[in-house]
Amino acid sequence: MSVLKSAKDLEAMRPACVMAATVLADMAAFVSPGLTTRELDDFAATRIKAYGGKSAFLGYRKYPCHTCISVNEQVVHGLAGNRRLEFGDIVSLDVGVVFNGFIGDTARTVAVGGCSVEGQRLMDVTEKALHEGIAKAVAGNRVMDISRAVQNYVESYGFSVVREFVGHGVGRSMHEEPQIPNYVERKSSPKLVLGMTLAIEPMVNFGESGVEFLNDGWTVVTKDGQLSAHFEHTVLVTKSEPEILTWPEKTPSKLLAKS
Ligand code: MF3
Ligand code: CO
Ligand code: CO
Repeated sequence: MSVLKSAKDLEAMRPACVMAATVLADMAAFVSPGLTTRELDDFAATRIKAYGGKSAFLGYRKYPCHTCISVNEQVVHGLAGNRRLEFGDIVSLDVGVVFNGFIGDTARTVAVGGCSVEGQRLMDVTEKALHEGIAKAVAGNRVMDISRAVQNYVESYGFSVVREFVGHGVGRSMHEEPQIPNYVERKSSPKLVLGMTLAIEPMVNFGESGVEFLNDGWTVVTKDGQLSAHFEHTVLVTKSEPEILTWPEKTPSKLLAKS
């Protein structure tokens, strides 16, 4: 059963989501050629701490980093290390924070300085696919309506959706019911209900959809070695417009001068 959030739950969860989004924006702005992924993860850890949160990933099933940083052919769950970002890379950043007992989960792919036209097209299509999916996150629809919207959009551009990893409910736990595949399955699909909070997160490959693990046991890469992109928002299901919770504040209130 999925966990429905009360008004009180949402009051606590909203700042967690804003915090995740703000850390993600901080990271995206910090990305530059020459930076190691370790330095980028350390930077994220510092920001999370400054905002008073905790990484939702560190220690999750023994995950060893604060964020996921996946470069080029890396799809998701990239481990930070000595790899240096190079001009022209595309890098997927995934941030989950715990604050007020709730988790916000959000991801985006950015270019390092700049990238190929193909890379930019892949990122644009993945982000738009996420928003096509979000638009279906309305009470009365089914999870499958989200899945179908994402898949149709992605495939209309000749790209492919990853099957092995899916979106999910999110709240006090990082992975709650329901699962949200980015492709249509031939089975019944849960109804969306007011008060669900969902992490919708298409992972889109430039080439074939197949993926495999690196020897580190975490980093997922495309089988064909071609580029992959990942965008994710935590969204509240309402009766009308879905509400994107992982939207950064322009200026984090913590940093505003007190008058
Ligand atoms: N943030 C990922 C997701 O979007 C989960 C990361 S799990 C970790 O669902 F262990 F890698 F942190
Ligand atoms: Co995530
Ligand atoms: Co997620």
